[in-house]
Amino acid sequence: MKQKVNGNLSGVRDAVIEALASLYDYRLEPGDFLPRELMQLLARFTAVMNREIALYITRDGEVVDVSVGTDRDVELRDFRLRRNANRLSCVRCVHTHPNGDGRLSDVDISALRSFRYDAMVAVGCLKGEPTYVQAAFLAEKQNVLMDDPVRWYRVPEEDWLRQIDESDALVGRDEPRESDVPERAVLMGIESEESLQELARLADTAGAQVVGMFLQKRDRPDTALFIGKGRAEELARECQALEADLCIFDEELSGIQMRNLEDVLHLKVIDRTTLILDIFAQRATSAEGKLQVELAQLQYQSTRLIGEGLVLSRLAGGIGTRGPGESRLEMNRRRIRDRMTDLRRRLEALEKQRELRRKNRERNEIPVVALVGYTNAGKSTLLNRLTGANVYVQDQLFATLDAVSRRLETREHTPYLLVDTVGFIRKLPHTLVSAFRSTLDEAALADVLVIVSDGASEEMQAQHDTVEQVLQELGATGQPRIEVLNKCDLGRTTPALPGAVLVSAKTGEGLDLLQQRIADELQRTFAPVTFFLPFSQYGLMSQLRPLGRVLSENHTDEGTELTMVLSQADRDRAVSRLGVRVVSR
Ligand code: GTP
Repeated sequence: MKQKVNGNLSGVRDAVIEALASLYDYRLEPGDFLPRELMQLLARFTAVMNREIALYITRDGEVVDVSVGTDRDVELRDFRLRRNANRLSCVRCVHTHPNGDGRLSDVDISALRSFRYDAMVAVGCLKGEPTYVQAAFLAEKQNVLMDDPVRWYRVPEEDWLRQIDESDALVGRDEPRESDVPERAVLMGIESEESLQELARLADTAGAQVVGMFLQKRDRPDTALFIGKGRAEELARECQALEADLCIFDEELSGIQMRNLEDVLHLKVIDRTTLILDIFAQRATSAEGKLQVELAQLQYQSTRLIGEGLVLSRLAGGIGTRGPGESRLEMNRRRIRDRMTDLRRRLEALEKQRELRRKNRERNEIPVVALVGYTNAGKSTLLNRLTGANVYVQDQLFATLDAVSRRLETREHTPYLLVDTVGFIRKLPHTLVSAFRSTLDEAALADVLVIVSDGASEEMQAQHDTVEQVLQELGATGQPRIEVLNKCDLGRTTPALPGAVLVSAKTGEGLDLLQQRIADELQRTFAPVTFFLPFSQYGLMSQLRPLGRVLSENHTDEGTELTMVLSQADRDRAVSRLGVRVVSR
C-alpha cells in the first residue's frame, strides 16, 4: 500500500499525484539536511501544479508526509514523533514557495513555534528550478534562530544538522511534561478478578489513573471485538462517562481487535502485554536493557501491523506508545525490520561482552546466587539488606529491570555474587522472555537460586507457580534452591512453603538464617580447601592456582600449604588427576 499524498489535490492529474507519492520512497543519507536533487524535484512538482508542497522529514531521513497546498500556502501541520509537546517534534518541515521567494514568512515562523519542528525550511522555486532557501530553528523561550536565505546550491548541510542538535538541547527540557498529568484508564478484565487487580497495579505503575474496572468473563473471545459488539458499545458509554483517555484489556489483542475496539470506543486501546512493555520501556536503564525492550516492543508491534503502518499508533501518545528510544509513532514495515536487525546486531555485541564477563567469573570461580521471584516480592530490598547496595526499591511492579549484582562473602570467606533479577509476572509476554533471555540467563545459570515469595500476599501460591513456570521455561531447574517467604513482619499467615526461610527484608528478621542457608549451599559446591604440595610437587602450583581463588599460601619446611576456594568438581579433579593431597576442608 502506497502512502497517500495529502492536502489540496483537486484538479491535479493522477499521474502527478502518483509521482508525488514516490517522494515517500526518497531516503536522505545521514549527513543530508536537504539534498539538491530533492530540492530540484520539489521545484519541478511545484511548477507543474503551481502549488506549494510541504515535506516532513524525520531525523532518520525518512519522508513521513507529503502535502500539497495552494499557490499561496500549504496547511502546515502538527506532526510530531515525540510525546512531550514541549520538546522538538523530531521532524523538519520543508516547503516550497512558488513565487521564487525563498524567505520564510511570519506564518512559517509561527508554525515553527507552535509545532516545534526540528527546522522550518522554505525553498523558493521559479520556473521549475529552486532559487533561495531559508531555514529557521527554535531556541529556548520560544526564540527563533534564522539564517539569511542562501542560494539553493549553498545550503550548509552540516551546520543546519548541527543546529537541530543544538536546538534539541535547548528546547523544552525543563518545562513540565505532558506526561505529568496521569492518563485516565478504564480496565477490562476477561479472566479473573485477581488478574484484573494486578492489571490495576500495572496501570498504576505505568502512571495511569484507574477510573473504572470491569470484568466480563468469556470462554472464547470474539474475533472482531474481543468482548462482543453489545458489550463494546456499552463500554464505550462507560468510558465516555468516566472521561477515560484509554482502555486497557487484560488479554492480548490482535491488531484487528485493537483497531475495531478503538473505532467503537473512540479512545486509545492497549492490551496487557503492551502495558507491561511500556513499563519496561520506562524502567530500562542499562544500554542492554533499553535495546532489549525496544526489540521486544517492535517484535510485538510487528505482529500487529495492518497494511503498512502500526495499529498501535493510531491514537498516538502516552502509555503504550512510549519507547526507550525516541518513540516513533509511525513506522512502516521496512523501517521496523531494519531497526530490528540493527537492534539484534547491537545486542549480539553486548551479549558477547556479557559472555566474556561470565567466563571471567567462571575462571575466578565466583559462584552466583540469584534472587528470583514474582514482581514486588521484595528481592531488591533483600539484596540491599544483605549487601548495603543501593538498588531502586519501590512499591511498584518491575522496579528492577536490569540484573544487579553485588559481591559478598559468607562467614567462612567464600565469596559469591548475589544477583537481583527482573521480577516475574503471570502472562509474562513471551516476546519479553526471549528479549530478556540474556538477563534472565543470569538466573538460569546461577549456582544457587533464592526464590523470594511475598509471604503477605494472598496470591503467594499462584505467584510461586508462575515463578516456577518461568524457571522451567528458562531451563533453570538443576541447581539447589532456597525458598524464602519475605515480609513476615506483616504477620499474615499464608500456607507455608515447605522448608522456606521466613524473613523480613524490612526489619532484618531471619536474615542470619538465610545467609547461613546460602553459605551451606555454597559450601556444598564451593568450599575452601587446603592442598599440601611437597617440594617435589611444587610445579603443580601453576596448574592449581587458576582453578579458583587463592586465600593463602603458607610455606613450611616440608612444602607449601595452598588454601583456595574452588568447586567440588575441580577439587576432585585436582586430587585424582594431579595427585595433590587435601589437608583440610
Ligand atoms: P521487582 O523489581 O518488581 O521485581 O520487585 P522486588 O521483588 O525487587 O521488590 P522490592 O524490593 O522493590 O519491594 C517491593 C515492595 O515491598 C517495596 O515497597 C518494599 O518496601 C516492600 N518490602 C520488601 N520487603 C519487605 C518486607 O520484608 N516487609 C515489608 N513490610 N515490606 C517489604
